Amino acid sequence: MVVWTDFERTTIQDIFSKIDYGVVGQAALSRCLIVYPWTQRYFGSFGNLYNAAAITSNPKVAAHGKVVMEGLEKAVKNLDNIKATFAELSTLHSEKLQVDPDNFKLLGDCLTIVVAAQLGKNFTPEVHAAFQKFLAVVVSSLRRQYY
Ligand code: HEM
Repeated sequence: MVVWTDFERTTIQDIFSKIDYGVVGQAALSRCLIVYPWTQRYFGSFGNLYNAAAITSNPKVAAHGKVVMEGLEKAVKNLDNIKATFAELSTLHSEKLQVDPDNFKLLGDCLTIVVAAQLGKNFTPEVHAAFQKFLAVVVSSLRRQYY
């Protein structure tokens, strides 16, 4: 079981209470699809992902970015039980969507960049460390049903 300090708990909850899921989710998912273009293969039903402009203005990308953030919110609300909280989501990505689990970390890195840009000077190394730990637990939980 993951042990969280009070600072880590407060910081993670604080980040999610400050950010706009629509804005951050869209920016993070778009960045992932642009920087790591092989991730586009999972979103064949999303229509035009031809270039960066198409991706950033694609309404399905925007909507799905928000869905991902809402998924992450469930982890924030269940910090002591992220693995169980994400068991179903892990099975979905593994068995139905067949997403290569290495991509979870890539999306997490894109999310970190977007959150850092939003928080500016408040994204201190300590805040970054807490967020990184949260994402590491999320990624490990999403990978869980792959084995
Ligand atoms: C931080 C990591 C991630 C989280 C929290 C997450 C969360 C979610 C959630 C909540 C859904 C909706 C599930 C449902 O409808 O029941 C979903 C669907 C999906 N995810 Fe993820 N996901 C993550 C990473 C990824 C990555 C890296 C990829 C591919 C590169 C991916 C591909 C998909 C696809 C293709 C769908 C179905 C989209 C659709 O057709 O509407 N996910 N994800």
